[in-house]
Amino acid sequence: MEVCTHPKGVQQWLTPHRQQHQRIALVPTMGCLHAGHLKLIEQAHQHGDLVVVSIYVNPLQFGANEDLDRYPRPLEADLRACQDAGVDMVFAPANLYPHGQPQVMLHTETMANRLCGIHRTGHFDGVLTVVSILFHIIQPHYALFGEKDFQQLRLIKRMVDDLYMPVTIIPVATLREHDGLAMSSRNRYLSESERALAPAIFATLRSMQRLFCAGETSVNPLIQHGLKQLTSQNITPEYLEIVQNEDLCPPHKAHAACRIVIACKIGQTRLIDNLPIQSDNPIQSVGVQP
Ligand code: PAJ
Repeated sequence: MEVCTHPKGVQQWLTPHRQQHQRIALVPTMGCLHAGHLKLIEQAHQHGDLVVVSIYVNPLQFGANEDLDRYPRPLEADLRACQDAGVDMVFAPANLYPHGQPQVMLHTETMANRLCGIHRTGHFDGVLTVVSILFHIIQPHYALFGEKDFQQLRLIKRMVDDLYMPVTIIPVATLREHDGLAMSSRNRYLSESERALAPAIFATLRSMQRLFCAGETSVNPLIQHGLKQLTSQNITPEYLEIVQNEDLCPPHKAHAACRIVIACKIGQTRLIDNLPIQSDNPIQSVGVQP
């Protein structure tokens, strides 16, 4: 497995592969890889002849009071995990902004100014800027992103459509722990008691899903049903909403192409999750056959 730390090295290493018309599948990450990331890598092998993983904790997408400094960076373990997963090349730059604060960035519009965008100002401008930089350096044919970060996934798809970028975005379903908690690098911040509380997020989403499947399509009763469950566990969400998959806008009535999205803090740790309002896929969790 090749490890590159500089964009020039990436381009040099990729050139002969490109000349042989090999298809490149990119999995962008911030490292601290867990089974959810590995699932993206596994899917990448199904699409590309070459699988490239980027590992970069992107300062542009962290707010002033967020966890940039303490974000875990276990690079050695990440490289071993990539090697074991058959990754062809890892791009792990020390700094993607050698000239300091970039003077040219991507600017997002209304789709980014809701849900997580309300609570994390500038976050999605930072995400889209770094993803577009990675696309420019690596020029992948495919790029894989998790549904776990649903707003991010939808915005990246819009970026690719709006800017006519020649890459196909592949969404990958959320991988969960046995108790339903969505896998996340931030789960390791949770204390034992917080970890015991965290599955309430998924249980709430499932219960709203069940209510919809039982025939409730009015948004307010669905939301109230979810809020009641959260309140009973002393969880106050930053948001709990039903949105349309395509534009992330609230629907008049809930329908099959909607998602339930949630963000909440368990202790000091901010967790996000989402589920399609209509369950069509089996829930995927580690070690459990769907
Ligand atoms: P990171 O949080 O490391 O996530 C990298 C990719 O893994 C994202 O596409 C994310 O949605 C996916 N992922 C995380 N947890 C998952 C799970 N439980 N199941 C399936 N997929 C999961 O998202 C980022 O990094 C950054 O914002 C990035 C896109 C790399 C830009 O800096």
